Amino acid sequence: MLKIPVIVLSVSLLILKQCHAANILVILPYPGLSHFIMFGSLLRELTDREHNLDVVSHFSSMMPIERYNDIPIRGSVPIPTNNVSVQSARNFQGLHWIKELSTTNGVDICKNAFETSQLQNLKNSTTKYDLVITELFGSDCMLGWAWHFGTPSVVLSTSLVLPWASDRFGLPDNPSYIPSYLARSGDTMNIYDRIWNIWCVSMAKIMYYWYSTRPSNLLAKNFFGENMPHLDDLAYNTSLQLINSHFSIHTSRPLVPTVIEVGGLHIPGANAVDEYFNDVLNTNTRGIIYFTMGSQVLTETLPKETIQTMFDAFAELPYKVLWKANRTNLPGKLKYPDNIHFEDWFPQLAILCDPRVKLFISHGGMMGTQEAIFCAVPILGIPLYADQHSNIKKAESMGLALAIDYDDISKKSILEATKKLLNNATYKQNAQKISELFKDRSFTAMDTAIYWIEYVIRNNGTRHLQSASKTLPLYQYYLLDIGAVLVGIPIIVIILFVKLIKFLVGCFKIKKNLKVKTK
Ligand SMILES: *[C@@H]1O[C@H](CO)[C@@H](O)[C@H](O)[C@H]1NC(C)=O
Ligand SMILES: *[C@@H]1O[C@H](CO)[C@@H](O)[C@H](O)[C@H]1NC(C)=O
Ligand SMILES: *[C@@H]1O[C@H](CO)[C@@H](O)[C@H](O)[C@H]1NC(C)=O
Ligand SMILES: *[C@@H]1O[C@H](CO)[C@@H](O)[C@H](O)[C@H]1NC(C)=O
Ligand SMILES: *[C@@H]1O[C@H](CO)[C@@H](O)[C@H](O)[C@H]1NC(C)=O
Ligand SMILES: *[C@@H]1O[C@H](CO)[C@@H](O)[C@H](O)[C@H]1NC(C)=O
Repeated sequence: MLKIPVIVLSVSLLILKQCHAANILVILPYPGLSHFIMFGSLLRELTDREHNLDVVSHFSSMMPIERYNDIPIRGSVPIPTNNVSVQSARNFQGLHWIKELSTTNGVDICKNAFETSQLQNLKNSTTKYDLVITELFGSDCMLGWAWHFGTPSVVLSTSLVLPWASDRFGLPDNPSYIPSYLARSGDTMNIYDRIWNIWCVSMAKIMYYWYSTRPSNLLAKNFFGENMPHLDDLAYNTSLQLINSHFSIHTSRPLVPTVIEVGGLHIPGANAVDEYFNDVLNTNTRGIIYFTMGSQVLTETLPKETIQTMFDAFAELPYKVLWKANRTNLPGKLKYPDNIHFEDWFPQLAILCDPRVKLFISHGGMMGTQEAIFCAVPILGIPLYADQHSNIKKAESMGLALAIDYDDISKKSILEATKKLLNNATYKQNAQKISELFKDRSFTAMDTAIYWIEYVIRNNGTRHLQSASKTLPLYQYYLLDIGAVLVGIPIIVIILFVKLIKFLVGCFKIKKNLKVKTK
């Protein structure tokens, strides 16, 4: 549990209780389970605080609770849970991922969701909503609902600030010191890192506009009517963004009051494992290594040789390995070591926080990385796509993780890295230190999130909190106009001065000539 003095908690609860029960429309069209795990915990808490929710999502059955009205759109798009191969994940690296995100996970999702009868009917709803909550990810199309119902909007993000999520809040994202979402460097960047960083930030914004905003705007206007303002304008009027980062484990960067860090929102505090998994964790070896590539990517789709390589490496370790995979779907003719246990699914947080677990091997997804840090477990990262490279890089720089490049997977590299992480106590000590920092907060992530959502409802948006930088053109924001003046004035003075000298010299010569002539 996060440590908070009881008094602060009760005072905060008093403040929080003052918000009337609101009607909130929540639209979560992206079908990623890991995203919904974070949002789900927030929605549950909102209903606990007496708010009435209408929730459009793909994960209805997970939420049979009071004041939670489910509007399921499951089936409108393919669900990626346990349905992404390692190969296709690796195709989504770097900037290519932005295009993929904008189309498959942005525009296509909008298009299919808008076509469902659930959303068609919702348009005619007579409910008086106080707030629209949606996700900031592959498309802004669902911001149209805030306009449609005349409410403020709050957006949720499961990651660090996305490149296109800064300008609309006036959030500083200077690439000289703020590593972008796709950066592969830590906080200190050399000149090559900064070139890559500025390239990534600028291209990501341009690509997002081109591949997502433009077509999404057409779809949304088609759905909500031609009177709808441009999606970009609606995006610039978003009241609040809740992001899944925290300064203790991510970059220390300036934030505006409308962008609030709630990193670890999905981590309520770990329960003990149940009886079945308690048996699984029991071992007469030195402990447990837990290997997973998250809820989407199937480790079963790793190339057969890679799997055998990992088996051979694990066979030499005096540890028991838990591996998230359906054993029947692994390639044939593998030589299985005795110390690997397969499961389709693990209660991840409970497993990671069990004292028998010594090492987490993962692709470096944001949620899993935060959970490992919460439970103070060192990480061996094999990043595949999206922000996984930067997540692992950051964990590495904090001294609690090591990374292996996917192309460098070999028995030797795995054994070297795992032995280092398991035998050198520094990594565990660092993990414990960072874990303490991650939990050391004035308010829990959940209380922070609830406070700010209710703040938006109480104050009908956050117009009074908006940063003036949102309205500045780039040349003003970077003071290029002032620079031009500062450089320009001396130049003009010098030119005038030279002209004056020339003029005076000219006069002098004429005078001389005149004198000569009169002689
Ligand atoms: C898995 O992905 C494939 C390809 O995208 C898709 O056709 C299929 O519907 C998905 N499965 C589920 C259960 O959504
Ligand atoms: C919504 O209302 C409009 C106008 O009253 C009507 O034309 C349309 O058929 C309604 N749509 C649905 C799905 O009920
Ligand atoms: C955005 O907010 C400003 C200030 O409240 C308002 O003047 C403007 O009309 C809004 N724009 C849109 C597109 O809602
Ligand atoms: C594992 O995969 C097999 C074959 O595809 C399938 O029949 C079985 O239901 C899966 N097990 C689970 C628990 O999903
Ligand atoms: C343990 O790892 C740290 C950090 O990499 C290193 O500085 C230290 O020398 C290592 N200790 C041993 C005993 O190898
Ligand atoms: C909230 O703000 C919007 C946009 O400025 C405005 O149209 C609406 O009347 C306000 N609602 C209340 C209850 O003040």
